Amino acid sequence: MLLDPHSYNDTAQPETTHVHWKARVDFAARTIEAEATLTLSEPGSGPLDLDTRDLTILGASDQNGTALEFTLHPAEPILGSRLRIMLPRGTSKVSVKYKTSPDASALQWLTPAQTHSGKHPFLFSQCQAVHARSVIPLQDTPRLRVTFRAEMTVPKNLTALFAAAFVSRTVSGDEATVVYDMPQPIPPYLLALAVGELESRDIGPRSRVWAEPGVIEAAAWEFGGVESMIQSAEKLFGPYEWDRFDVLTMPPSFPYGGMENPRLTFLTPTVLAGDRSLVNLLAHELAHSWTGNLVTNANADHFWLNEGFTVYAERRIFEALQGAEMAALHAAMGRRRLERAIDKFADRPELTKLRCNLKGVDPDDAFSDVPYEKGYLFLRTLEEEVGRPAFDKFLLKYVATWRFKSITTEQFLEFLEQNLPGVAAKVHSDDWIHKPGIPAGASAPRSTRLDAVRNLGASVPSDETAVAWTPTEWVLYLDNLPRPTPRSVCEKLESSFHLTGSHNHEVLVAWLAVATASGFDAALPRVERILGEVGRMKYLEPLYSALAKSSRYHSLAQSCYDKAKDSYHPIARQVVEGVLRRNAAVRSDAVS
Ligand code: BES
Ligand code: ZN
Repeated sequence: MLLDPHSYNDTAQPETTHVHWKARVDFAARTIEAEATLTLSEPGSGPLDLDTRDLTILGASDQNGTALEFTLHPAEPILGSRLRIMLPRGTSKVSVKYKTSPDASALQWLTPAQTHSGKHPFLFSQCQAVHARSVIPLQDTPRLRVTFRAEMTVPKNLTALFAAAFVSRTVSGDEATVVYDMPQPIPPYLLALAVGELESRDIGPRSRVWAEPGVIEAAAWEFGGVESMIQSAEKLFGPYEWDRFDVLTMPPSFPYGGMENPRLTFLTPTVLAGDRSLVNLLAHELAHSWTGNLVTNANADHFWLNEGFTVYAERRIFEALQGAEMAALHAAMGRRRLERAIDKFADRPELTKLRCNLKGVDPDDAFSDVPYEKGYLFLRTLEEEVGRPAFDKFLLKYVATWRFKSITTEQFLEFLEQNLPGVAAKVHSDDWIHKPGIPAGASAPRSTRLDAVRNLGASVPSDETAVAWTPTEWVLYLDNLPRPTPRSVCEKLESSFHLTGSHNHEVLVAWLAVATASGFDAALPRVERILGEVGRMKYLEPLYSALAKSSRYHSLAQSCYDKAKDSYHPIARQVVEGVLRRNAAVRSDAVS
């Protein structure tokens, strides 16, 4: 049976429990030549289907080194190529020798010029959702977990990191081989590596931060509060199970804000605001150590169990550290993002249900704020219905019960009914799970600071008001401004508050999006600079959209993209090309 719409994995076939990966990284050819040895849960026989994408398969063998027959099927656009290996009776291990493609969808190869020091190349992986298969042939479904050992050979002047426990490093000639172990079983989308010129600093008893040398001081300071976050999270969800929580500050082209790779969270450098004002992102990735990495969604149809729970946990950690008022402001931001996402999917309302059916849909295309913020809102609504003490007890039991397992929405609902009987019916959970949009009765954030921002509407805040605003209040205010906003308002905002010079990327991008949509030319050089320097999709999307929608800036969108595209991650390129294509279509419709 096929239980995951994004994997060739067949439940009738043997399951992998351990992966031993030996790899050599070739920066000149932009390839990794490797051997992956998969240990099966018990000796098996018959066909074994592995997920692959753009791999060149050099050979397959069993535990005795005997060659095995295999077929690499033609590539499907979303799933990639099925690699079918025929196992004779009693096969306990399968080894595959292969090479990755320079275009591997999980890998970004940076030239020295694309790094901070400009001296050395850099390589990193981003396997979620279905890209691990472009690096290692395996059963690439979160339904199954593996432990692994990785042995990676790289040029000896570079540091090679894995999201796993460090074992050893040995130098031979110009090369170094590092060994890492992951003793806790993980779904394959959490495999992660990075190679480059990297330094580290300890920032807590179980945490250190890694970054390029020019960034390390700033990163060490920004994430200095990590241990108190871990302790808040442990109070909510139980013990931290991954031994260490280290952080890698990525080069600016990293396409996401963060990625919860176990033991080594990857974070965008745009979070380095200099005042710790964006560390909710760190709280988010940390929270995944329980929701996502311990309790995993069985496949992409149940992605909300991963991200919705994590946003809920992120805001609870944030509330514990900064108070209910601040958490309410974040909830209000989330609510806006949810409304936008639902508007964006007006023609695909099925993608605004919590439980999806993504057969035939690329999970990267279905990605939106819906699983995050509708998931959060559902959990928050449940919390309000039963009260915080009862809900906290439920959360602890949820994690303890499902740790190191993968679950579906249906299993969650059954667990909810067993432990908080009747509450699902009271909040009309069917509407949340199976219907598009936002159900009536959703929890709403309450905060006097929020009311104050809302009451201001589109008028310019006084100096006195603005001076007391946190970046979150700025973002709420800016997001709420009409498009276009009158030039006089843009001018006043810029001259009084110098928003174009903001060091906080959330405030900066919220402002640049309003300014661009309002034809405020003075902001354009900053827009061009950010599009040339940063590859985070959350920022590329609104800025390219605002440019492409404007008749005056439309061609600038294309020329910025042409200039910057080589520095963007393949997934980010896909997103920007989508924005440009959609807006080209709208415009030609308007003409015809
Ligand atoms: N796991 C996600 C990033 C992701 C999701 C990568 C799906 C690929 C496919 C990560 O935890 C995340 O949600 N990051 C957010 C952080 C935000 C919600 C605080 C981001 O990147 O913006
Ligand atoms: Zn997340």
